[in-house]
Amino acid sequence: MEKEFKVTPWEIEGEIDYSKLMKEFGTQKIDDKLLKRLEKHAGEGHFMLKRGLFFSHRDFDKILDDVEKGKGFFLYTGRGPSGKVHLGHLIPWIFCKWLQDKFDVNMYFQLTDDEKFYVKKDLSLKDTKKLALDNALDLIALGFDPKKTKILIDTENIKTLYPIAAEVAKKLNFNTVKAVFGFSGETNVGLIFYTTLQSAPCFLEDKRCLIPLGIDQDPHFRITRDIAPKIGKEKPALIHNMMFPPLQGLGGKMSASNEITAIYTTDSAKEVENKIKKYAFSGGKYTLEEHRKKGGNPDIDVSFQYLRYFFEQDDKKLEKIYNDYKSGKMLTSELKEYTIKKINEFLKEHQKKRQEAKKKLDKFLMKS
Ligand code: TRP
Repeated sequence: MEKEFKVTPWEIEGEIDYSKLMKEFGTQKIDDKLLKRLEKHAGEGHFMLKRGLFFSHRDFDKILDDVEKGKGFFLYTGRGPSGKVHLGHLIPWIFCKWLQDKFDVNMYFQLTDDEKFYVKKDLSLKDTKKLALDNALDLIALGFDPKKTKILIDTENIKTLYPIAAEVAKKLNFNTVKAVFGFSGETNVGLIFYTTLQSAPCFLEDKRCLIPLGIDQDPHFRITRDIAPKIGKEKPALIHNMMFPPLQGLGGKMSASNEITAIYTTDSAKEVENKIKKYAFSGGKYTLEEHRKKGGNPDIDVSFQYLRYFFEQDDKKLEKIYNDYKSGKMLTSELKEYTIKKINEFLKEHQKKRQEAKKKLDKFLMKS
């Protein structure tokens, strides 16, 4: 029987079949040819590309055409501030940082305090705005260049966004958002209008825009891309990453609202240890004896997936862990210890930079 799954910007359910999703959404696979082309221009590859975490795209080849023609491009991504930032959120941001370094391009980061206010029953606008400013620290901590990076908060920077949103809104009808998002007569009109705001940053510059993003956000930009030529603009290009698995296993993405599904960037070393030991789904066998004999399954093991997604960037080491775990030479407790150590090494640095980011925040915030 085929497994059911659901991927929308506001809800993810079940185990995602990514090739099926690509067909459903109508996106292209990132193939070797494209990777080679990117590597040629960047001077090197990126482990997230090599490991297939960024697996799908729309018009990424056109970005490379523009690079070759000397036209360049600019970057855009964002975050809905509904809670604390968790490890999975960092994936596209880290990739953006790499692209900014390699191609020396501008980047816009949108914090959608309005969107999360519309979606979350218990959050006030004041709450989401406060979270936006808090979440911004995680972006800044990753080392973006303040001269080339601007953070937009929807309710703050509406003066910049609104004229573009209005252009988009005039070409977007209710039937389209209804069909794409499944809206009904009960949906609040804020949400019905919202896609126009998420579209707006795509058109801030007269170059093609490249958006690294979780594939769950694709539907907004499918709409944006249809509208772009109607308002005389370039269609944004997209590059999609897979969803970072929650502690409980590969069934979906981490939800920031449920405490124990995710590791937050502000978690203490002890909390990380606790979460991995207690909650990280294991691909190990039930008894030590059986594990030694039959080996574990790294493909479904959450600790291993965290290493693969991010925390073990050395391909040789990752491969050894994979083989040792599969053969039973490495135990679940050892794999978890190693993962805890790697995550905590990263977080120690990140938290320091996050603290320092408070002083830099003002330099990053868009002024109008
Ligand atoms: N809607 C996104 C979220 O809920 C936030 C967002 C705004 C975004 N603009 C974006 C995400 C551009 C990716 C790319 O997280």
